[in-house]
Formats: sequence, structure tokens, C-alpha cells
Amino acid sequence: MKALILSGGAGTRLRPITHTSAKQLIPIANKPILFYGIEFIRDAGITDIGIIVGETKEEIKDAVSDGSKWGIKVTYIEQDAPLGLAHAVKISQDFIREEPFVMFLGDNIIKGGIKTFVERFKSDQPNALILLTEVENPQQFGVAELNNGKILRLIEKPKDPKSNLALVGVYLFDKNIFEAVNKISPSRRNELEITDAIQYLLEQDYTVNPYIITGWWKDTGRLEDMLDANRLILDTREQQINGFVDNDSKIIGKVVIEEGTIIKNSTIRGPSIIGRDTQVINSYIGPYTSIYFGTKIINSEIEHSIVLENCIISDISFRIEDSLIGKNVTVVKSLAKPKAYRFMLGDYSNVGIL
Ligand code: TTP
Repeated sequence: MKALILSGGAGTRLRPITHTSAKQLIPIANKPILFYGIEFIRDAGITDIGIIVGETKEEIKDAVSDGSKWGIKVTYIEQDAPLGLAHAVKISQDFIREEPFVMFLGDNIIKGGIKTFVERFKSDQPNALILLTEVENPQQFGVAELNNGKILRLIEKPKDPKSNLALVGVYLFDKNIFEAVNKISPSRRNELEITDAIQYLLEQDYTVNPYIITGWWKDTGRLEDMLDANRLILDTREQQINGFVDNDSKIIGKVVIEEGTIIKNSTIRGPSIIGRDTQVINSYIGPYTSIYFGTKIINSEIEHSIVLENCIISDISFRIEDSLIGKNVTVVKSLAKPKAYRFMLGDYSNVGIL
């Protein structure tokens, strides 16, 4: 069995971060999202993995390389434009050949990995196995309508949903999916939709089995979901202090502090993780915060946020919350006169001021 991880795409919902970086490399609890997917697949016993890459291909290739650090073999498949999940399958036929495969969306995280689903697929041998989960806002997902445990039909982002079962970003297919992706036409948003390809399989009487998952699953395409995934993963960590904490600081709960990090006169409340070579001075780091590495946080408070590498956050009067802060970002109190806010923000930035 092979695997296909989709790590191309446009990432419009995470601009401006995705103007310069791949969203799949944003760290969740200080590990790039994509690495969770790779590990889920490896832990399910699959070592031959194709990774779909788009505009951010160099960054993804630098991070994953040949896959040997996970004991896997990686083949990169270049997608010229993000023309849809089914398009990604279509261009992977030379890599997959006739083998069954698992397709995993590179910005998704699923509790407990995918081993159970791979085993179910191998034992039941349907033409496709799709994972479903109950959601509160089915209008935003591909949705499956079921009758007596059988899939009736799939609809992409239904206006008037008849079911609250959304497709999770993990799919298992046999070779017949290639017939489907070659038969369907682009949707109104000009993408080859995987829901249309699976609907084609249903209409041609191929077996498409549903598997309703009960654990959590997160598609991290939006900031809120990314912060949620960060929270869910941080909750599973235990306290581990490898940096220096002075006697004037307080560490409360499940806090991870990595090597080379210095905490002075500060309070860190877990679950949170402070990555390597970071300085936290006269500050408060609250629950569900991940600081990647090389950052300075001075006279400031931050909670429920993700901060990427090499940032400076200094002398901020109010607490920073619910934020995603990119690489090499500076957020400091400005003492220059006249007294004013001074910004240099990328396109599609989002700022909340008190
Ligand atoms: P999406 O999150 O559905 O799409 P996107 O990444 O373009 O983001 P947005 O909607 O915010 O513009 O994609 C799910 C995953 O699949 C993600 O890891 C990107 C990847 N993908 C591809 O590799 N090729 C594609 O053509 C598409 C649409 C997505």
C-alpha cells in the first residue's frame, strides 16, 4: 500500500502567513503539521509516500527531504496549480500505479492516527473507505448522506445540508479512483472535487464504505482550527523542563521548556511549550501557547497563541490572545513621538487594537 499527502494548495484562509510560507509547515505544539501526517502514515506501516507540492515546494522539500529520518521513502509530485484534491490524485497515477493507497490532507491532524482505518480497508477491501465525523457547520464541508449505514450521496459544501456528517481529510482508495478522477469535470470553483470523484464511484456501483470516527479531527486551514489543534495536542504533553528557570519564576502545570531557553521573573502556565533558545523575561505565558524557537518575550503577556521562530515581543501593555505570529515578527511598544501606532503589515494581515 502507498500513501499520498497533499501539501500544495493556495492557503488563502491563512494569509498573510501563506504568502511566504507553506501552511503545512506551521508548527502545532512545536511540530510542523505535515510531520504529524507523515508519522500517522509511517505508524500505519506505509513507507512509500508521495507528497503533492505546489508553490511552496522548496520549503517542503527542505523540511522533509528524502524521508529517511522517518524511515520512509518520499517521492515529490509537482502540481502546477491547486486545481483540486481529485486533480492531485489524477497527477499521481504514475506514482501510485495499481496499488491501493491512503490519501491524507497535509494540513489535517487526527487523534490516534490512521492505523485503524488502514486495517479496516485491508480487511473489508472496498473500492474506497471514507472517514466521516459529525460537525456543527456542515455547510463548510463535503458532506455524506447515509441510509442504513450505506452512503447515498456526497455533496460539497451543501447550502441546505441533509446530514451533519462531514468528510474527514483521510481517504482510502483502490485503483478505480483513477477512472473517477479522469471522468469528472471541474466544479463551479474550477477544481476537480474529490467528492465528485467518490460520487462517481457510487454511481458506478463501486463499494464506498463509510467509517464514522469518534475521536477529534482538525482541518487546520483556518486560524481558529489551528489554535484548536494546538490546544488538543498540548493537552497530551507532560511537564518537561530542559531550559533554565530562575527562582523568581513560576512554572504551573504541563509546561515544556526546551534546551537553551531562559525564563526570568516570569509565570508560565501550561499546557504550553516554549521552544529552544528563547528568552522570557518579566512576562506571562498562558495556557495553550506554543513558542517555536529563538524568540524574545519581554515585559509582555501572551496566551492561546502560536508564535513562530525568531520573533521579538516587548513591552506590550495588554495581553496578546488567539494569535498566530509569523517568523521574524517584531511587536514592540513604540516610544517614538508623535505617539502613534506604526505598522508594516503584509497583505491580508489581521490586527485587533485596544
Ligand atoms: P484546502 O485547505 O482545501 O485548500 P487550500 O490549501 O488551497 O486552502 P484555502 O482554501 O485556504 O485557499 O486543501 C487541503 C489540503 O490539500 C492542503 O494541505 C492543501 C492541499 N491541496 C493540494 O495539495 N492541491 C490542491 O489542488 C488543493 C485544492 C489542496
